[in-house]
Amino acid sequence: MTARLNVNIDHVATVRQARRAPEPSLAAAALLCEDAGADGITIHLRGDRRHIQDEDLYTLRRVVTTYLNVEMAATDEMVGIAVDARPDAVSLVPETPGEITTEGGLDTVSNFDTVRGAVDRLREGGLFVSLFIDPDPRQIEAAQRVGAQQVELCTAAYAESTLGARAVHSEGRLRAVAELQRLREAAALAAQYGLHVAAGHGLTYRNVTEVAAIPEITEFNIGHNVVSRAVLYGLADAVREMRARIREAKS
Ligand code: PXP
Repeated sequence: MTARLNVNIDHVATVRQARRAPEPSLAAAALLCEDAGADGITIHLRGDRRHIQDEDLYTLRRVVTTYLNVEMAATDEMVGIAVDARPDAVSLVPETPGEITTEGGLDTVSNFDTVRGAVDRLREGGLFVSLFIDPDPRQIEAAQRVGAQQVELCTAAYAESTLGARAVHSEGRLRAVAELQRLREAAALAAQYGLHVAAGHGLTYRNVTEVAAIPEITEFNIGHNVVSRAVLYGLADAVREMRARIREAKS
């Protein structure tokens, strides 16, 4: 079985917002990703609007022809926007003010009623709902009980365990093996509950293979590493082009 790749393009909006400029265009980025074979586009509309803006969501809804997945907190404001904008999927994530990136999965066990309220409203609005959770059997069970259709297993702990030198020390490698096993068991359990299974956070060109081999995982949401690679691999061409423009003007 194959798995879909949704490319998270939040970082494109981060660059744009650094200058409050029209470029780089999020719509152009989405189309380039789709052209290159992405199965979908993921964005995170944060409460602080630090990168993706409400308007981006509506623009992408018009231009994305594959699959649009929107990550958001389980708040009344966000649920209202999602029901209005109608992405193909809504992924509920935890959000802490000031965090650099999403820190771990949504604690559906402790926030059961809030999450259930959000899931109910989204599903009544005809939307597909995924919950971003840690690979923890209690969270999977809670996700099923609140009526989510999919869980996205947080791969942050696995990704962290594969970083740099840590992975080559036997202790680091053991941790990676253990985290991978947690993901395997969580994916199997979620599938037994009848949930679709996605995964993401911190996945890289180096650590994705072992997670992609887990049969129940049918969707990946990957952003940082893809955009990082695009910046580096695109840099030489971008410099050559600017160099040529200046040279042309002088000749
Ligand atoms: N899935 C979720 C729920 C996320 O919040 C993020 C980060 O925005 C990702 C996947 C992608 O993580 P990364 O940018 O590390 O690939």
